Amino acid sequence: MTFQPRQTSPRGVIENQRLLELHLYPGNRCNRECDFCTVFGSAEGWYADYTPEHLDAALGTVMLDERGVVKFYGGEPTLSPDNLLWAIAYLRDRGFGGSIVIYSNGIQADHLTDILAADPLGKTTASLNYSIATGDGAPQMPLSSLRKLEAYEAEQPGAIAMGHADIVDSGRGIDPFTGEENRPKSAHRCPHCYPVLKTDGSFHACPFAVENAAPHFQLGTIQDAPEMVADNFQTFLDWIDTVHEPYAIAHDQPACTVCWQHLEALPTPEFRQAAAEVAS
Ligand SMILES: C[S@@+](CC[C@H](N)C(=O)[O-])C[C@H]1O[C@@H](n2cnc3c(N)ncnc32)[C@H](O)[C@@H]1O
Ligand code: SF4
Ligand code: SF4
Repeated sequence: MTFQPRQTSPRGVIENQRLLELHLYPGNRCNRECDFCTVFGSAEGWYADYTPEHLDAALGTVMLDERGVVKFYGGEPTLSPDNLLWAIAYLRDRGFGGSIVIYSNGIQADHLTDILAADPLGKTTASLNYSIATGDGAPQMPLSSLRKLEAYEAEQPGAIAMGHADIVDSGRGIDPFTGEENRPKSAHRCPHCYPVLKTDGSFHACPFAVENAAPHFQLGTIQDAPEMVADNFQTFLDWIDTVHEPYAIAHDQPACTVCWQHLEALPTPEFRQAAAEVAS
């Protein structure tokens, strides 16, 4: 296949209370229902548009220079192309100079390539779902879509990358996964992903666990100061290293299984609270 593996950014980088990377999530509505899906994607999933309030909060949280990365995922981002095109233009109009990544199953290939082509800075790329691109662990995307994406990548090398093959035990998880046995599935160490701004207005600490409502993941909302959200994310990473990982090792559990099934055994990270909440 034409696509190169997606490159990852350094983890845990926070500078002047801004994050190197931020995920944006409008819900888990999807045109597929993968049996391993970490966010429970389905046609009945929830969806809410990005608004100026969400994107202003994103612009206050992520690094705005060329190092910053904003990652749109879901659900399937290509099902709402107009709102996504608007969101990319909004970020660019307001000075976001970093790169943008669209996580997609690629089935709506024309929408995906239109979105990639629309970035005035030409720094929007796609990351494809490994299982759906290859047919290993999920029905493959229609070959007509795959051919369009391969042709686009051949014309614009580097525009479309292949996502990671790893399957983590989160959401529908690893038990129903039917792909190759040799794809990595468990590790005691959390991959330290960057957090998520959801279109319900909340910041969640983990893109894999984004549908897990436990208080351990709640970093704040778009009403809060972005600096507080960044500090809370640092607190979350410290909690992962000092509380979560030792528990995973002691109980010989994969890291994501601890988040999905054992959080009640772990204290909540000591997050800063919004001033309004503290006063009430
Ligand atoms: C949740 S999907 C959303 C975007 C799009 N629908 C897609 O499938 O790429 C984002 C990425 O998460 C990956 N993913 C889904 N479930 C996973 C799991 N249990 N472990 C690891 N990655 C997973 C998908 O393969 C995809 O690359
Ligand atoms: S992995 Fe992506 S394509 Fe599959 S159900 Fe989840 S959101 Fe949809
Ligand atoms: S260990 Fe927890 S925080 Fe880390 S990636 Fe897995 S679910 Fe997310």
